[in-house]
Amino acid sequence: MQNPSLHKLLNQAAASPHIKNLQQLWANNPQRHQQFHLETESLYLDLSKNWLDNNSLDLLHQLAESCQLQEAIEKLFNGKQVNHTEQSTAGHTALRDPHHSDYQANLTAMFNLADRIDSQHIKTAFGKPVKQWVNIGIGGSYLGPRLVIEALTELQSESRIPVYFAASVDDSLINQLFRTIDIEHCLFCISSKSFGTVETLMNARAIESKLRACSGYQPQAGQSSLMAITAKPEKARQHGIPDDMILAFDDNIGGRFSLWSAIGFPIVMAAGKKAFKNLLVGAYKMDCHFRQAPLPGNLPVTMALLAVWYRNYMQLSAYGCLPYDARLRCLPQWLQQLMMESTGKMHNNAGQIIDYATAPWVFGDHGQLSQHAFFQAFHQGLDALPLDFIGVIDDSPNQQFLLYNMLAQGAALMQGREEDSSMAGCPGNKPSTTLLMKRMDAVALGELLAMYEHMVYTQSVIWDINCFDQPGVELGKTLAKQIQEYVTTGSLNQLHLDPSTLSLINQVSPKIKESNHD
Ligand code: F6P
Repeated sequence: MQNPSLHKLLNQAAASPHIKNLQQLWANNPQRHQQFHLETESLYLDLSKNWLDNNSLDLLHQLAESCQLQEAIEKLFNGKQVNHTEQSTAGHTALRDPHHSDYQANLTAMFNLADRIDSQHIKTAFGKPVKQWVNIGIGGSYLGPRLVIEALTELQSESRIPVYFAASVDDSLINQLFRTIDIEHCLFCISSKSFGTVETLMNARAIESKLRACSGYQPQAGQSSLMAITAKPEKARQHGIPDDMILAFDDNIGGRFSLWSAIGFPIVMAAGKKAFKNLLVGAYKMDCHFRQAPLPGNLPVTMALLAVWYRNYMQLSAYGCLPYDARLRCLPQWLQQLMMESTGKMHNNAGQIIDYATAPWVFGDHGQLSQHAFFQAFHQGLDALPLDFIGVIDDSPNQQFLLYNMLAQGAALMQGREEDSSMAGCPGNKPSTTLLMKRMDAVALGELLAMYEHMVYTQSVIWDINCFDQPGVELGKTLAKQIQEYVTTGSLNQLHLDPSTLSLINQVSPKIKESNHD
């Protein structure tokens, strides 16, 4: 965030009296709906309900230029180092570029394995055909595949193979899983880039011991109930996964950008090879748009600039994601990880502590459910926050009803209703963005997800931060390990904990409580 004179102009624009007044903005420019919309083959973006005018948008484009955004985009696509802390490139866009060698290698490995499973050359360790799938993984090794599978297989009813997810370590969830699945027909897939995530390995061990306890469980060549997807194939091998049941991917694929890689294999199994290929087609279309469209017509760039505008110049600290379609109900969680893990940073690329805000608090849920939960606060609470309303154009009466509801909410938030004595008045003037998918299919979904990925990358360029690492999550993991050690051994060896946490450990762990009484 260099360029003080541009910041001054942006701050001035944000402070101008009309900019936070939607009524005034429309009075000044009644053609806003024509001017403030962008379109790609599958997406239609309406920005006209935002606290934005030509001047502020123009300044934001200047900001992008002053951060050498175009050069940064080329660095991403040309395999230059963009992840400076880990000295790495970011490989996710190569996986959807049909002219790149990584694209074919990725698809060939996945499709060959899918064919061998489909043709029953590979059976479960009970000698049965694979009819169910359990994905053991968390974070990026869970959210993307789950979102895409739900979206493309009508929430799994059209799934070629039912896919279940074991993400957190929870007895109740694992027990529920085992009540649901048919273990003899199930392929369990350990999905972990690092093959070191504690939750994933604990779940894998729990499942493996259940498998071993079953009669008829006999792993042998061509028969395995376990497979692994990882960037550390040697660790999967050490774990005992047979070589031909390991799908590897490159270390330069970030976890939250990984659904296009082998991590997306459950998508292939659930939605089929064609759907997965089309997902890549859609993402590639968005990649080309991101690289080629001039900044003013560039969808991810514009979305990113708007988010920066609200975060840094309007000081709004939240961001709402509201899909009005159950097929996209996991989008808010996926976007939350993408945005917050990527841009929740306090150091710039040079390692200095920054003095400006970055990631907003991203939250959201299915829009219609949210209307009956937290929309009251949008309408009559005093805060405003940027909201993405996401709809899928679909002419079935129920889907149309959902879309009307979505449009009504955007209108109600903007227009408000005159105060009256019943306290039913709403102030209005609340901004929102409407993003329409022109249809729900793999191509459109690929475009949408790649659009958000590029939005996040653009934000990181403007904020001069690395969006491909996540060092902040390590502290909690280390402490959890030490607490477990303390509880098991009673030794406070390396543990430097505050009295509040120590007393809570005593509450949750009876073992420690007893030993402290000795
Ligand atoms: O702890 C955060 C994180 O590292 C995410 O970045 C990642 O998506 C998730 O854990 C799972 O990691 P892995 O795929 O290595 O198990």
